[in-house]
Amino acid sequence: MSKLRIAVQKSGRLNEDSMRILKDIGISIDNGIDQLKASARNFPVEVFYLRNGDIPQYLKDGVVDAAIIGENVLIEKGAGINVVEKLGFSTCRVCIAVPKTTNYNSIKDLEGQRIATSYPNTVEMYLKENGVNANLHIINGSVEIAPNIGLADAICDIVSSGSTLFKNNLKEVETILTSEAVLAVSPKLTAEKQDILDTIQFRIKSVLKGRD
Ligand code: PRP
Ligand code: MG
Repeated sequence: MSKLRIAVQKSGRLNEDSMRILKDIGISIDNGIDQLKASARNFPVEVFYLRNGDIPQYLKDGVVDAAIIGENVLIEKGAGINVVEKLGFSTCRVCIAVPKTTNYNSIKDLEGQRIATSYPNTVEMYLKENGVNANLHIINGSVEIAPNIGLADAICDIVSSGSTLFKNNLKEVETILTSEAVLAVSPKLTAEKQDILDTIQFRIKSVLKGRD
């Protein structure tokens, strides 16, 4: 019998809660995270530990069948991937922030400004909706430092507790979207694997209900 391949974030804010929900639905993983791939002992499931940003492409290609991933990453990179269940953890928002000292009145103030971000598609879409043209600088991490080193006038990144914004003297001025961890499924899922997925989804629903 073929196994359902599930991708989870290798390290970072989703990893721990992703492993916990798999455990809570009765999927026990033998080998540690160093393996990058682990088989469940008691269920036809393989877990792949991957980088967040790579997961949407793996889903599109059908290299993995399903994934526990942040909606924000799917919105940025995942056109065509179905979300089948919201998981209620790793909530965050994707925001635009500017230095506290900036006099900001509306999104129009971003016209012609430099925005540093790891979410170029998301911010581009938002600016377009609002008829604003800005220059995007794509960086992969520590985005909030950009205004302080003179690289950008604004940033767009995820905000959870708000502590990173605070520490970098930035204020949130636009909320583009809110996000949480979801169970996402490859468009190439086979009928045989759909059955395994259905079982998993059923168990996830019960676990989430119990947590309420
Ligand atoms: C993430 C994100 C924000 C921060 C938000 O960065 O990029 O910077 O967390 O969380 P907070 O509102 O609770 O402070 P992360 O620490 O994952 O590092 P990275 O940006 O270098 O990837
Ligand atoms: Mg960061």
